[in-house]
Order: sequence, then structure tokens, then C-alpha cells
Amino acid sequence: SYWERRVRSSARARARAGHVVLVTGASGFVGTHVSLHLKRRGDGVVGLDNFNDYYDVELKRARQTLLGRAGVFVVEGDINDRELMEKLFDMVAFTHVMHLAAQAGVRYAMKNPASYVHSNIAGFVNLFEVCKSANPQPAVVWASSSSVYGLNSKVPFSEKDRTDQPASLYAATKKAGEEIAHTYNHIYGLSITGLRFFTVYGPWGRPDMAYYFFTQHILQRKQIEIFEGPQHSSVSRDFTYIDDVVEGCLAALDTAKKSTGSGGTKKGSAQFRVYNLGNTSPVPVTKLVSILEKLLKVKAKKKLLPMPRNGDVKFTHANISLAQRELGYKPTTDLETGLKKFVKWYLDYHSDLRKYSS
Ligand code: NAD
Ligand code: UGA
Repeated sequence: SYWERRVRSSARARARAGHVVLVTGASGFVGTHVSLHLKRRGDGVVGLDNFNDYYDVELKRARQTLLGRAGVFVVEGDINDRELMEKLFDMVAFTHVMHLAAQAGVRYAMKNPASYVHSNIAGFVNLFEVCKSANPQPAVVWASSSSVYGLNSKVPFSEKDRTDQPASLYAATKKAGEEIAHTYNHIYGLSITGLRFFTVYGPWGRPDMAYYFFTQHILQRKQIEIFEGPQHSSVSRDFTYIDDVVEGCLAALDTAKKSTGSGGTKKGSAQFRVYNLGNTSPVPVTKLVSILEKLLKVKAKKKLLPMPRNGDVKFTHANISLAQRELGYKPTTDLETGLKKFVKWYLDYHSDLRKYSS
């Protein structure tokens, strides 16, 4: 069928010994960037995304158009759909899976807990069930989150620190993902790498994230709310630029050792790794806002509010020495430089949405 031809052609690697990668959440923010980079360097890439309406679906469609122009086909489907997933693995011998599909967002978990269970727990298990039975077994790299550190008060966060105090249901499902992945590695010999991203931002970003809707609201002269810690202390994030995260994702794929199992049996010991992919320089949210004011040349209407008990943590700060040593990961973009690129994209994208209509 036409659909199958599109999948096969998208999966074809141009580079000799190129990977063949299934990217879940391909029309998401990180998925779009990772897919484009993989395709550009000659890997075969097939995307999968359910185009859910957690945020602006038009933006997901625009990313899909961008991917289509680069030769990446995005299959529309859910990671919970066992039949579809098995069909994809029957059609294509994926060497790697880059699993980015998830219900993201920390505060939304208060409103819609079920969507976190659907994608981050049930869908997560379904994906690993399919991967463990695939022949050959793909190496899996997936997105965990800095939120697993929860109410940890030791900074910077390193991989060996405690992760037993999640502050939100989102964080709890990300932490559960790490435990689930570990059992699939242990029992079935799947090669698995978890990447704890730290508040990733950049062009084609997520409209539900603060840097994005602050930009929108500042330009529209609408008020923004800035959360503060106790005694008016600042809340900070280790904001990490998308290109740096993409480098880390590609290095994780490239250093993943082959799985040792196949067809659901463990044949030896495969690797299980978890890395922080942060920026190592936390910035207060107030500073994020002042950089945006400067770049947009508009003064923000700010309202300071005490940090609500909605799953937020007061600060995040990555220790990246493990990723540096083992993946050669080295973030190079500071917040102001990265936001400049985001704002340029934002103004361009929102000035003419037709550019990306398919
Ligand atoms: P995103 O929401 O833009 O991308 C996720 C994509 O997955 C979306 O396009 C969505 O439609 C799709 N999806 C969701 N559930 C699905 C399902 N059940 N089946 C198929 N597709 C589904 O988010 P993002 O910022 O690109 O995040 C990618 C990954 O990184 C997620 O796992 C997220 O939790 C994690 N992460 C992101 C950040 C960040 O700051 N952006 C930080 C830490 C972790
Ligand atoms: C982000 C992503 O949304 C999560 O999916 C991801 O897992 C997480 O990073 C992570 O690093 O693991 P968050 O850091 O909360 O979560 O990102 P934003 O929602 O963009 O918030 C950034 C900062 O702005 C936070 O300190 C938040 O408290 C603050 N904020 C947010 C405000 O001050 N006002 C608002 O109206 C919204």
C-alpha cells in the first residue's frame, strides 16, 4: 500500500551502516529536532505520533510538514496500539528506538492524571513489550526527566542521587518509567538508555511551557504570573537549549551497545544507562523574563505569586559529568543565545502559518 511504501522509504538509511530509528513522539518538540538531525546525517527514520490535543495540534502538523519535506514519514498512531507497533517492526528492522512520546508537563497532571497513565505507563510498557519481542531487538533510548529528582535538596543533581520523592504525578510516571525500563533490561536483555532532560527550550518548542507562553503574553501585553519560593526567593531552572539536547540524544544512540536478547529471551547482559542532559547553569525565572523583555523590546506585566503546590520544584540543576565522560556531551548554548533563536523562530512562524500548511 501507499502507507507501507512511505514507511519503507522513510526507513531507508542513506549513510553506510546508518541506523534505522523509530522515533516516537516525532511530531513533538524534541522528536522533530532529533528526527531531522538523524535524517540529515543519513540514518533511516520513521516517526510515530498520535497528534493529541494537549497543545496546539496545528503546530504538530506544521512540524510534520517540516519533517515530510526532509523525507521523514510520521505514522499517525498511539504507542498503546500493539497491532500497529508490531506491524511497524515486521516491516522494518529498526536498530534503535528513540522513545519521546509521552504526556509531558508538570502542572497539567493535576487536571488530567489519566493521560499520564495512558502514555507514560501503559504505552511505555506496550512499547517495551514490542521491542523485547522484535527480532532483531532494537536498542532503546528514551526521555526521562529532571523531575525525578523531585524534592531533592542536594545540588547539582547527579544520577546517583535519591529519586524517591516525586513532586508531581508526571514525575512519578517518569520515575516509574525508569524502574520499568530497568526490568526489561534485566529480564530480556534489552539495551536501554534513559536521558533526564532539564527544561528544554528552543525553536518549534512547546506552547505549554513558560518561555513560550511568556513570549506570547508579553507580545500581547497580557499579564504573566511568576512563581516565587518562600520569602520571595527565586525559582530557577537549568534551561537547556534544544540543539545541545539533540547532541546528547544522538550520542546516546551512537554509544548504545547492541541488545543481547532476541525474541523475548535474554541471551547475555545488555547495558542499562541513565544520564542527566542539562545545562549546568540554573537561571531564575525572573531572569528568563528579563531576557525576553530585552529581546522582544516590550516590558512584561508581571504578577508575582507564591509557588503553588501543583507539582513544581523550586530549582533544578544538573551535574553532567557522567554524560560528559561517557557521551562526550557538552552543552554550549547559554539562555540568552538560545532564547534569541527561539524568539526569531517564534516571530517568523507566527507571522505566516501558511508556510507550513501541507
Ligand atoms: P511534546 O509533547 O512536544 O512531544 C511528545 C509527542 O508525543 C507529542 O507530539 C504527542 O502528540 C506525542 N504523544 C503523546 N502521547 C502519545 C502516545 N500515547 N502515542 C503516540 N504519541 C504520543 O514534548 P517534548 O518536549 O518534545 O518532550 C519529549 C519527551 O521528553 C517527553 O517524554 C517528555 O516527557 C520529555 N521531557 C521533555 C522536557 C522538556 O523540557 N521539553 C524535559 C524533560 C523531559
Ligand atoms: C519542564 C517540562 O514542561 C516538563 O515536561 C519536563 O519534564 C521538565 O521541564 C523537566 O525538566 O523535567 P518545567 O521546568 O516546569 O517543566 O517547565 P515550565 O512549565 O516551562 O516552567 C518553567 C519555570 O517557570 C518553572 O520554574 C515554573 O515554576 C515557572 N512558571 C511556570 C512560572 O513562574 N509561571 C507560570 O505561569 C508557569
